[in-house]
Amino acid sequence: MDLFANTPPDAPKSLAELNRLIAASEPLVPGATQAVLGEGPVHAPIAFVGEQPGDQEDVQGRPFVGPAGQLLHRAMEEAGIDGSKAYVTNAVKHFKFELRGKRRIHQKPSAGEVKHYRWWLDLELDFIGPKLVVALGGTAALALAGKPVSVMKERGETVFGHRRGYITMHPSFLLRIPDEAGKRAAYADFLTDLRRIHDLAEQAA
Ligand code: URA
Repeated sequence: MDLFANTPPDAPKSLAELNRLIAASEPLVPGATQAVLGEGPVHAPIAFVGEQPGDQEDVQGRPFVGPAGQLLHRAMEEAGIDGSKAYVTNAVKHFKFELRGKRRIHQKPSAGEVKHYRWWLDLELDFIGPKLVVALGGTAALALAGKPVSVMKERGETVFGHRRGYITMHPSFLLRIPDEAGKRAAYADFLTDLRRIHDLAEQAA
């Protein structure tokens, strides 16, 4: 099954070309400051895919620099994953939000929006060539698997088309857990996943 059948025949031939195209694109839903490109080395062993840039990412133009990103980087470090050698990107490249007073409140992208951006993500991952692609949360899993995924039921190793994959929770899910004990338990589960991700990428080396 071709999960990315909407890739056009005149698709970009390099990551730089793809990034130029993404950077010049208009958001599907108006409002975002800029497109946020993936970051990290080509041939990174692990590629982490998030949902979409948040408020801070939209302002700074970099993925995972806000609170969820800080949590992700802390957990990576604790799990022995060198953040400078990992690739981080998003399924959707523009921030979607609702204005409440002066606050920009994150809005989850629709399945149609995820589909719109999917061929970019596929090409991006082709150019990076990671050994393991990690879906952080349901939107990334939807983009990578091409079908809705229950993160809690399907957490763990998987394949996304021809790619080795892993499904885990999104760090912002951890931030939203209201009670401290629940938060600590979920963070421990997240760390367990990241340690496994680290080992799988090492074994594939
Ligand atoms: N959440 C995401 O999914 N991606 C980011 O870049 C930041 C927060």
